[in-house]
Amino acid sequence: MMRRRITTAGRCLAILAGLWASACGDQDNKVTASASQLSTWSQVQQILDANCTSCHTVGTSQARQSGLILTPDVAYEQLVGRNPTNPAALADGLQRVGTAGPVSLPTSLLWEKINAANEDHFTSDHPDYGTLMPPPPQPPLTYGELELIRAWIYAGAPEAGQVADPALLANEDRYSYEADDFVPLLAPAEGFQLHLGPFDVFPQGEREFFYYQGLGNDEPIYIDRVEITMRRGSHHFILYGFGDRTPTWALPDTEVFRDLRDSTGYPIPANYLAMPFHRFLVGTQWPALDYSLPEGVALEIPADYAFDMNAHYLNRTDAVATGEVYVNLHTVDPETIQHTAKVVDFNNTDIALPAGERTTLERVFRFDEDASVFQLFSHAHELNTEFRVEIAGGDRDGEEVYYSNDWEHPPIVEYDPPIILQRGEGFRLIATYDNTHDRDIGFGLLSTDEMMILFGLYYPNQGEG
Ligand code: HEC
Repeated sequence: MMRRRITTAGRCLAILAGLWASACGDQDNKVTASASQLSTWSQVQQILDANCTSCHTVGTSQARQSGLILTPDVAYEQLVGRNPTNPAALADGLQRVGTAGPVSLPTSLLWEKINAANEDHFTSDHPDYGTLMPPPPQPPLTYGELELIRAWIYAGAPEAGQVADPALLANEDRYSYEADDFVPLLAPAEGFQLHLGPFDVFPQGEREFFYYQGLGNDEPIYIDRVEITMRRGSHHFILYGFGDRTPTWALPDTEVFRDLRDSTGYPIPANYLAMPFHRFLVGTQWPALDYSLPEGVALEIPADYAFDMNAHYLNRTDAVATGEVYVNLHTVDPETIQHTAKVVDFNNTDIALPAGERTTLERVFRFDEDASVFQLFSHAHELNTEFRVEIAGGDRDGEEVYYSNDWEHPPIVEYDPPIILQRGEGFRLIATYDNTHDRDIGFGLLSTDEMMILFGLYYPNQGEG
């Protein structure tokens, strides 16, 4: 759920071509001015009209099967706050479109079904949610259309008002179901490149591993942008570092594949040991990512640093498949940045889960400086069923800003604008665990123990908030 860097060059808004065909090209500003008067919902409706209403119209068999009409007279009320027809999605507590903002993104069936770049996640984690929409072979929505819809859900799916920049639609690239559009990245003009693989992925199976690789930086560097490209079949890829308090026994050897499971699916516990010390930098479930930190913010990477790369590949064919990943870390001159990003690492180790019971734990963590938080994600193990985060203190006390019901792949949520907190305010972590074992479970590093951590990134506000 990363914000992609969208090029705004040539703002000829294809989706609006019918309305402003003549205003494309050199009259950029005029297009933006006209488009800026549209509500985001009306732009979403235009996307539905062009791609969805051929089926989702009164009287068609597809409309009967899905129970969903997307024509302009009813689409909003059919989608927003409504339970899905799909029984598996209904049982999982999804709505067609939820109105709770960022926390609704992973629980909105509409988003799950249109986010084609997440094909592997959709088909492997939610085989009962039906087909991606529009159904192949119709091509998926463009990245710009997806980004607009994502921003709309993110803002609470309002019927009125403009909550997404219409210029997003300028990105007309789209995910392709068939093509292996993997292109190795050229090394960045300023920065460092990591290259993982090529490596094998077992037939009819999956492979998840870590690979620790040094950067060879003899001085601290400042990263403001990360690009990633991957060969197809990736379920996710995450770039981690280690904090300076990591015990040396937990630091892995460099340039060794540390698989989490062997080819029969059996866990390899030694390779889990470094995980609690990981510092998340960036991750993606998409085959290509171009992520920029907020304007003027960069992450400081200490001298002689190394990154732990976490790849998870799936292979649904009978032949060995090949995985490969390129990562470009773009650096900036520290003189040109306003803020150095800092890591949120709120770790509740006070965990006691009685055998056979459901337990909800709550714990508040506070910042000791004014903070602008721009990224959050949770970390827990397999007994965790829900992980909620609320703002604690200040005017927004009690406002839910994060929700995960997927301990294995918690959503990584970007906040743009950031969540601004005063010194002494913070987050309330509320995590529910279902201890299905016949023994009590406590805090621990192994996947059979439990954890309750909120990770993220923020930058300090020196008296400006
Ligand atoms: C070729 C016909 C067709 C097109 C085009 C189409 N759909 Fe569908 N849609 C279906 C069918 C059939 C179902 C029911 C089966 C399923 O969920 O896969 C469905 C189900 C859905 C559902 C789940 C509804 C529920 O409550 O379970 C959503 C959401 C959806 N479509 C959204 C869209 C969107 C958004 C588009 C356009 C981007 C779109 N569809 C384009 C045929 C279509």
